[in-house]
Parts: sequence; C-alpha cells; structure tokens
Amino acid sequence: MEPSPIIAPSILAADFARLADAVHAIEGAADWVHVDVMDNHFVPNLTIGLPVVQSLRKATSLPFDVHLMITDPERWAPGYAEAGAYNVTFHAEATDDPVALAKTLRAAGAKAGLAIDRDTPVEPYLDLLPHVDTVLIMTIKAGFGGQKFLPEMLGKVREVRRRIHSDNLEVRLEVDGGIAADTIEQAAEAGADAFVAGTAVYGAQDPAEAIGKLRALVGGVG
Ligand code: DX5
Ligand code: ZN
Repeated sequence: MEPSPIIAPSILAADFARLADAVHAIEGAADWVHVDVMDNHFVPNLTIGLPVVQSLRKATSLPFDVHLMITDPERWAPGYAEAGAYNVTFHAEATDDPVALAKTLRAAGAKAGLAIDRDTPVEPYLDLLPHVDTVLIMTIKAGFGGQKFLPEMLGKVREVRRRIHSDNLEVRLEVDGGIAADTIEQAAEAGADAFVAGTAVYGAQDPAEAIGKLRALVGGVG
C-alpha cells in the first residue's frame, strides 16, 4: 500500500512573532511542520535557527521537518536532530559527503533528508537514495517563500520516483516551493508524496481549512 500523502505547512509564511500560535493553528490538520532554516550564506536570506526550534519544539507535538538551507551542515544538522526534529534535510550542494551526514543524523535519532536545489541535477544522487529517508526536490530556487512553482522541476521528481519504485525503497519524496491548489496535483502525478506549502497555508484566512483542500486534491482524507 502506498503511504498516505504528507502535508507540511512552512512556518516561513507565518507571523514570526507568533510562531506557537501558527503551529497550534495547524494541529490536527497538518502532518509535519516545515521549518526553513536559512543562514544568509547558502541562501541570501536569514530566518531562524536552533534556539527557536528548541523553544518551538516544546509548543507542539507535531513532527518537525527541518529544511537546512545552510553551509556547513555537518556543524549544525545534528543539533536539530538532538532538539527532537523528526526529519532533518540538508542540501546536496552544501556537503561533500551526504551519506556520512545522513548516517550521523540517523544516529542522532532523526530521519535524514537530501534536498536538491533548482539548478542541481538529481541523477548524480540517485545511487544515494538507500541512505536517506526523504528527498526534497525544490520546485523554486531555495531562499524565499512566495515564489512561482517551476513545472520543469517535475522531471526530477519523476526520476526519483522511478528509482524509489524500481529499487523498492522506503523514501518520502517531498516537493517545496509554490505548492498550492493549482500546482499540487501535477506534483503528485509526477510522484511526490510529501508537500510543503507556505503561502498557500499561512496566506489563507483559515490555515487548517487550506490544508484540508490541499489534501483533498492529492487523494488524502481529513
Ligand atoms: C523556500 C523554502 C520553502 C518556502 C515555501 O526556500 O524552502 O519551504 O517556505 O514557501 P511557498 O509555499 O510560499 O513557496
Ligand atoms: Zn523549505
């Protein structure tokens, strides 16, 4: 049986002065909370880091899906696993040894995710899939919320899905960037089974209702 789709709202689009409220607003509706960590080096934007994640961890029981858009993930990623993140995703472009880092994250008690940015082909990474738990295909250029979905990224989603299928792997295939009611179905058809949505959830009047609408479009219940 295929695992049911995951909806992971990104708090990047929420009010940073009210993060606990933002997370409470999606409890019972979302599967994961997506936390975008940016360091003003790997991407030209700066968001939140470990102290905020540690505090927010205590405010909810929803699993944290931490997306590290940072250089030197070896230095920082294990701290997020130790802080109780469910999944910690680092960028393929930021490390020379993704397999070792994935192993470290798993040893620290988290799932390990590999992210592929807009300009990076996925083919060189396909042989690494048995070593990770999630693959995140950026459907925008990493760095900012609210960008337009790039359908040309779906070829990478298809490639990863083919490999997961042919090798019978247990890997979640996540898409991130511009996911909304008008784009989520094409991402699902290409093979994604986890969907990050920032603006589409927190830009809506009722975030929980927006999640329900997205879920209905990809065949989930609730
Ligand atoms: C951007 C982040 C995304 C962002 C998505 O680099 O990785 O997670 O929050 O925001 P939307 O859904 O608005 O494109
Ligand atoms: Zn993200």
